[in-house]
Amino acid sequence: MAKLLAMATLLLLAVVQLVAAAAEDDQSPKAVEKWFKKLPSAERELTKLHFYIHDIMTGDHPTTIPIASANSTATSPTRFGLVFVMDSPLTEGPELNSTVIGRCQGTFSFASQSEIGLLLTLNFVFTDGPFKGSTLAILGNKKRDNQYREYPIVGGSGAFRLAEGIAVDNTYTGPISEGRPPTECQVFVLRYVEPKIELVTDGAF
Ligand SMILES: *[C@@H]1O[C@H](CO)[C@@H](O)[C@H](O)[C@H]1NC(C)=O
Ligand SMILES: *[C@@H]1O[C@H](CO)[C@@H](O)[C@H](O)[C@H]1NC(C)=O
Repeated sequence: MAKLLAMATLLLLAVVQLVAAAAEDDQSPKAVEKWFKKLPSAERELTKLHFYIHDIMTGDHPTTIPIASANSTATSPTRFGLVFVMDSPLTEGPELNSTVIGRCQGTFSFASQSEIGLLLTLNFVFTDGPFKGSTLAILGNKKRDNQYREYPIVGGSGAFRLAEGIAVDNTYTGPISEGRPPTECQVFVLRYVEPKIELVTDGAF
């Protein structure tokens, strides 16, 4: 009996999780309101992600292209005023042919007159893996000359509704078989999850 109950509980949990996942895919006002109503019982969890961003700036299919500059940009030692738009693949591993899990989409501007310093306005758009269909929004300052750079995560959608966190990047220095070294990115994000239900063990019945 106890075993049956435990199995039923497991099944129920699986169903609850499936429904929860589906609920986050639903972007209708009704679904969003329902999500907010359940927020008081939700728990905050630290989720860590690790992936690589491939900026391709040359060839027939660049993923990162310049879209604007000021006249004075040409003579600026810090390229002040130059703006790029990007739609670059996010991969699980450092190689370009590694599994693609999303895109890094947005713009970055050369916003400093005293150093190479960028304003990033980007979304990580997840297209595969556990966060498929969800996004994270980044708004940050990138100092090119720092080894590691941290960026505020200012929000998200889907599984990352009301998320907060920090993304840290660095230029990957390990071996790769072709192309430019990718940007390695580690994300630390607090997001809301359904409360975990404690499974009661056989002995307790
Ligand atoms: C920028 O350069 C172009 C071409 O030299 C010139 O026609 C234009 O007036 C300049 N714009 C400004 C704001 O100086
Ligand atoms: C990726 O490409 C390299 C060579 O460019 C190759 O050695 C490797 O097996 C490829 N990996 C996959 C997953 O296709």
